[in-house]
Amino acid sequence: MRQPLIAGNWKMNGSKADSTDLLNGIKAGVADIVRSEVAVCPPFPYLYLTEQLLAGTLIRYGAQDVSREPGGAFTGQVSASMLKDFGCTYAIVGHSERRLFNGETNATVARKFAEALSTGLVPILCVGETLEEREQGKTEEVVASHLDAVIEHCGVDGLGRGVIAYEPVWAIGTGVTATPEQAQDVHAFLRQRIAAKSGDVASAIRILYGGSMKPSNAEELIRKPDIDGGLIGGAALKAADFLAICRAGDAATA
Ligand code: PGA
Repeated sequence: MRQPLIAGNWKMNGSKADSTDLLNGIKAGVADIVRSEVAVCPPFPYLYLTEQLLAGTLIRYGAQDVSREPGGAFTGQVSASMLKDFGCTYAIVGHSERRLFNGETNATVARKFAEALSTGLVPILCVGETLEEREQGKTEEVVASHLDAVIEHCGVDGLGRGVIAYEPVWAIGTGVTATPEQAQDVHAFLRQRIAAKSGDVASAIRILYGGSMKPSNAEELIRKPDIDGGLIGGAALKAADFLAICRAGDAATA
């Protein structure tokens, strides 16, 4: 069985003080979470603090983005090896907010995925359609294009060293969550598409759901056979809510 992963995506929120409180709050409540893997992705400037506060715990952490370049004259970028240096396990790549506001293409995202892998980071590849695309019946076409770009660049075994997060854009930060059935349909589609290349990778890879996941809907979503946890935005900013989602991950796989 795939171990559920509950990963908090803090986005561009909080201060040093807020991050300290949130990390301490998660640390204080994590002892009774036995099945789910717990991870947080704070903003870059707080990764050092995260490394210090989470030392000696089982809570993993990562970054919300990574450069596609290994290093050098790339002002403002942060390399995968720097993230490794601060003890990161994960790097989110291809979040829809980066595709939208930073013009990231499938090709860029695939290079970021590869760069993360090359240093031993685990990339979390975000895929997902907009409301317009869903209404036009293009959901599968869009998520397939996000997925295929990485498979073409890194191979299916490369993909298998990462995690996927299905995040319908219309559900992110809107309070509108995909129904468990809607999410399961897309997760199953992604897994089948991977299975066409490798059954082993398809059965092992974790596919998280993201988009207004919260304590009240997490367990029902994670109970679906192809949903292996969550990438949590807003609800990851309160320790109690985030921990409740982690416990839902445990309950769903009990
Ligand atoms: P949300 O964000 O939980 O606030 O909808 C999820 C995400 O964008 O990763």
